[in-house]
Amino acid sequence: MKFFVDTAEIDAIAELNDLGMVDGVTTNPSLILKSGRDILEVTREICDLVDGPVSAEVVALNADDMIAEGRKLAQIADNIAVKVPLTWDGLKTCKVLSGEGHMVNVTLCFSANQALLAAKAGATFISPFIGRLDDINLDGMDLIADIRTIYDNYGFDTQILAASIRTVNHVTESARIGADVITAPPGVIKALANHPLTDKGLDAFMADWAKTGQKIL
Ligand code: E4P
Repeated sequence: MKFFVDTAEIDAIAELNDLGMVDGVTTNPSLILKSGRDILEVTREICDLVDGPVSAEVVALNADDMIAEGRKLAQIADNIAVKVPLTWDGLKTCKVLSGEGHMVNVTLCFSANQALLAAKAGATFISPFIGRLDDINLDGMDLIADIRTIYDNYGFDTQILAASIRTVNHVTESARIGADVITAPPGVIKALANHPLTDKGLDAFMADWAKTGQKIL
């Protein structure tokens, strides 16, 4: 399973990238706002840093303007995936830009039918939002499972990019179901290393090691 990091913070991306934990990056208008950076500048820096796909989102609402914005974003670097919302205009944009050879990430997906449309429009990635479904008392993982089944039934090669991941359990469940990619904030990716028994075991080893009076270096 590929790990994308869901942020526009360069330092956080670089730290995880150095550990080989970054297969790609996703951004959105809210993350650009949070970074305080210019979208074109920060996206270029991210593309220079990371080899894998870097999602940059269009902000127009009609297909003609989305296509123009998508073409401009795609000029930033070869590893740009143009991110478009799952609206009818977004699907039209997906069809045109994927036909031109650009990677397209269709975002804000909340139903299996929406995911089916994105695959038929040639999406490289479909981004179902797990956490936002959980927020309204639905089960985001059910959606990932439904899309996995449907894509496998018909051999669609659109990659399932599990998004709006808020917890380490979302990562485990996405991996169990067979999502192709997860995108998560840096804090969630780092938290995957945590286990209370690891901390407890390490404390016990350190206490016993101190009693030996030995040194390795
Ligand atoms: C990823 O592409 C999305 O922009 C992101 O995962 C949304 O996450 P949120 O629902 O926590 O804002």
